[in-house]
Amino acid sequence: MYKIAIIAGDGTGPEVVAEAVKVMQAAAAKFDFKYEGVKFDFGGERYMRTGETLPDSAIEELRGFDSILLGAIGHPGVAPGILEKGILLKLRFALDQYINLRPVRLFPGVETPLKHKGPAEIDYVVIRENTGDLYTGVGGVTMKGTPNEVAMQVAVYTRHQVDRCLRYAFEYARKNGRKARGKGEHNTLALVGKTNVLTFVYDLWERAFHEMGQKDFPDVRRDYYHVDACCMWMVKSPEWFDVLVTGNMFGDIITDLGAITQGGMGLAAGGNINPEGVSMFEPIGGSAPKYTGKGVINPLAAICAGGMMLESLGQTDASAAIDRAVRFVTANKLPSMAAGKMGHSTSEVGDMVAQYVAQNG
Ligand code: IPM
Ligand code: MN
Repeated sequence: MYKIAIIAGDGTGPEVVAEAVKVMQAAAAKFDFKYEGVKFDFGGERYMRTGETLPDSAIEELRGFDSILLGAIGHPGVAPGILEKGILLKLRFALDQYINLRPVRLFPGVETPLKHKGPAEIDYVVIRENTGDLYTGVGGVTMKGTPNEVAMQVAVYTRHQVDRCLRYAFEYARKNGRKARGKGEHNTLALVGKTNVLTFVYDLWERAFHEMGQKDFPDVRRDYYHVDACCMWMVKSPEWFDVLVTGNMFGDIITDLGAITQGGMGLAAGGNINPEGVSMFEPIGGSAPKYTGKGVINPLAAICAGGMMLESLGQTDASAAIDRAVRFVTANKLPSMAAGKMGHSTSEVGDMVAQYVAQNG
C-alpha cells in the first residue's frame, strides 16, 4: 500500500490532478497494487485565506509519504514569488529533491514546431540539479531605490551537490540511455554548462563530471555543450541528445524550450526526485488561470507525471502501460494538444487513457 500525498494546488492543478489520479487508479486495478491518496490544500487560495504557504509541520508530515503528486502552484491574486518560493521551492529544498528529471519526448501524433523532426528525433532527458545555483537565495540588495542600488544573486554549488547529481545522471544514462534502450550504439551523458564565462561554477561541474566518468562510468560516453549552443541544437538537431545534465538555472530554462518542442506544456512532465527520500512529481506547466474550471486543459502532462511516480515506486509495468496509453491517445484521439482544441474535455482525455490502461495493460 503506497501512501501518496496529493497537492492539487492552484488554477487548473486540481483538474489535471484528478485525471492523473483516475489513470493511476486504473493502473492500480490492472497491475494489482494499492495506494492511498491524501489531499493537501496548499496553494494560493489557502494562502489568501490564512496567510500560510507551507507550514514546517506539513514538511514533517510529508516525510511520512511514499511520494507526492503536485498539480500547479501560482495564483493571479498572489504576488509572484510568494507561492513559488513558499511552497514549490520549499518542498524541493526541504525534502532535498536534488534531481529534477525532465524527459523531452515527442509522442506520436503530436505537432512540434521543429520542422522535419518527429518522435525518433525528439527523445532525450534533461537532468536538472534541483537544490543549488541561483535558486539558493544567496545574495542581497543594498541602497535599494537609489541610483546606486546594488543587487546580487549568487550561483552556489558545493562539490557534494554536484557529485550526487552527476552520479544520478551517469547511472540514469547507463540504465536508460540510447544503447540501453536499443536505440543507438552508446549511452551518452552530456554536461550543459558555460565553462567559458562561469569559470568557477562550471569548472567545478566539468572537473567533477570527467573525474567521475573516467573512474566509475567508463562505459558512458561523455559530451559537453555550452548552454547557449545547447539551445541552438535543441532546435536544429535534437537527435544529438541522449541524457543531458546541468545546473538548476540552465535546467529551468532549457526544459521550457524542450517542452515546447515536445508539443507544449500540456505534455511536459517532471519529477523532483530524492533517490533516498520522498519525491514529488508534477506537470511542469503553470496553473493556467485563464483556463481554470473550464474543463479544457490538457491533463496528459499530469498523467505522465503520475506514470513517472509509479516508475519511481517500482511499478515499472504500470508506468510503461500509462506511457503506451498516452501514446495511443495522442496518436489516435486528439487533433491538437492545446487547451480547448483537444476535441475532448479534460476528463474525457483522462477517461480515454484510463480505459486504454484498463483494457490493454
Ligand atoms: C519550474 C518552474 C519553477 C522553477 C518556478 C515556478 C519557481 O519554473 O518548475 O521549472 O523555476 O523551478
Ligand atoms: Mn521553469
